This record gives sequence, structure tokens and C-alpha cells, in this order.
Amino acid sequence: MKVGKQTAKKKPPLVLITGASGGFGCEFARQLEQRGYRLLLHGRDKPRMQMTLHALKYPKRHRCIYADISIEAERTAFIEDVKQYGELVGLVNNAGFGIWGAFERREINLQMGVLLTDLVAPVDITHALLPRLRKNKGFVINVSSLAGETPLPYMSTYAAAKAGLTWWSEAMRVEIAHEVRVVTLAPGPSPTGFRDVSGMPEGTGSAFRSRARLIVEQGLKQLDAGGGFCVPGKRHKLLYFMQKITPRRLALLLMRRYFRH
Ligand SMILES: NC(=O)c1ccc[n+]([C@@H]2O[C@H](COP(=O)([O-])OP(=O)(O)OC[C@H]3O[C@@H](n4cnc5c(N)ncnc54)[C@H](OP(=O)(O)O)[C@@H]3O)[C@@H](O)[C@H]2O)c1
Repeated sequence: MKVGKQTAKKKPPLVLITGASGGFGCEFARQLEQRGYRLLLHGRDKPRMQMTLHALKYPKRHRCIYADISIEAERTAFIEDVKQYGELVGLVNNAGFGIWGAFERREINLQMGVLLTDLVAPVDITHALLPRLRKNKGFVINVSSLAGETPLPYMSTYAAAKAGLTWWSEAMRVEIAHEVRVVTLAPGPSPTGFRDVSGMPEGTGSAFRSRARLIVEQGLKQLDAGGGFCVPGKRHKLLYFMQKITPRRLALLLMRRYFRH
């Protein structure tokens, strides 16, 4: 769905993308710009945000906002900043990261950071911006993960955060179905910055990898269909099907073997 021609007085509709400094966030920026939206691009890393701007056709149209959304004070200031934009029609809760390794051995502040960034922040940001999105008949896209469909030994806090995000997003989607379109996007592995940040060894999950472009295309197609739960592409659908038919005990054994270091 493309945005129609704007009148001289009306400000072009605006979409906020969190975690726009790379990976899926950068791809969302590209595809939403093609649809005619102005963008609020959020991230932390300034040089990487500049790379996102360079990947866009009209970089001067958009604005970058920097904040660590795992820190409450920074998140609150960020939300206040975004609230001033009356023309906000879309929110893409995309920022997130995972930490690979045994729960007991990985630093607790990093693991708390996963829960805060991947679960607490999107819930908080969405709650604050929903009145505006409802008024503008807008949309929310929550970038969750297939990691939220199975408990993952050695990525336990990431799986917990994404399970929470998916369940919250799905329940909220039904509550506001007629006012705001909500997509819960649950991709499997994709070659972005995610693996480097998590510390996961090369090769894990590589047979199921899909490109960011396809994942974002499928997420936006789901939005065009009025919202819903979206597992993008054939490979990730196959992985999801396998998750659904495997008994939990067996899945835990397989995942422990797969992710163990
Ligand atoms: N790639 C995969 O295999 C995969 C699969 C399923 C789901 N996902 C999900 O997809 C989303 C995007 O990840 P990606 O794969 O595109 O990885 P990525 O390239 O590492 O991008 C992650 C983005 O999140 C931002 N971010 C992380 N922590 C943040 C914080 N505390 N405050 C503000 N921004 C923060 C990063 O910002 P800075 O770089 O500026 O710090 C970056 O823009 C995540 O939610 C991830 O869980 C990824």
C-alpha cells in the first residue's frame, strides 16, 4: 500500500523505526521510504545510522534520534520527543539483541539489557504512542522472533524476551484490531549484525537463513492484509512447522545440543 499524494498543508505521514542503524531496521527504512513515508530513524550508533541514511533515496526527508532504550530515563526522553509528531502513523518496534551462552556464565547486566530492550521498551513505547496511532488509524509492527516459539538453552533470556513480546503483541493486536493494524513478525535466522552482537558461533542456524529484504517484504505484506502473525518466507515457515510438531522435551534436548558451547 503506497501513501497517496499529500496536500500542500498536510505533513507527510511519519513512521518511527527503532533499531534502524542496520539489519532489518535499515531494510524497513528502505521499503517504507519507497512507500512514501517520512521516517524517524532511531538507533545508538551514529556512523551506522549515517550508513542507513546513505541507503535511502531522500536522506534529508528523515530524522535520526539517538537513545539507549534499555535505560529508562533515555527511553522516557525519547518517547516525549516522538510524541510531539502529530503526523505519526506507524511504529516499528525492531531494536533488539540476544546474548549467547550459559545463563549462569553471562553477565547479568547484559541479560537484563536483552529483557529491557526486546520486551520492556517496545511495551512502554507502544503504550505511550498508541493514542496518536489510533487517532491516525495507523499501525504497529513488532519484530519478534521464532526464538519466542521454543525455550532455547544457551539463549534463554533472548527466547524469554521474544516469547513475551509475541504473546503481548498478539493479545494487543486483537484488542485494537479495528483501530490500529498490528503485525507480529516472527523471523528465523538472517545474516544481519545480530550474530556478532550475540557472540553466537558462525554456522548456527545457517541452513534456515533468509535475507532481510524478504523478511521485511513479508512483514509489510501482512500489514497490507490488515495485520496478523507473520512467519516470513518458506524456510522460516518450515522451521516454525518443525517447532510446532516437536514435543517440548525433544525440542529442548535438540536445542541444547545445537546451541551448547
Ligand atoms: N537476525 C536475526 O537472525 C533475527 C532473527 C529473528 C529476529 N531478529 C530480531 O530483529 C531485530 C533487529 O535485529 P537485526 O537482526 O537487524 O540485528 P542488528 O543488525 O544487530 O540490529 C539491531 C538494532 O537494534 C538496536 N539496538 C540494540 N540494542 C539497543 C538499545 N539498547 N537501544 C537502542 N537500540 C538498540 C541496534 O542499534 P545500534 O547498532 O545503533 O546500537 C541496531 O540498530 C531484533 O529485535 C532481533 O531480535 C533477528
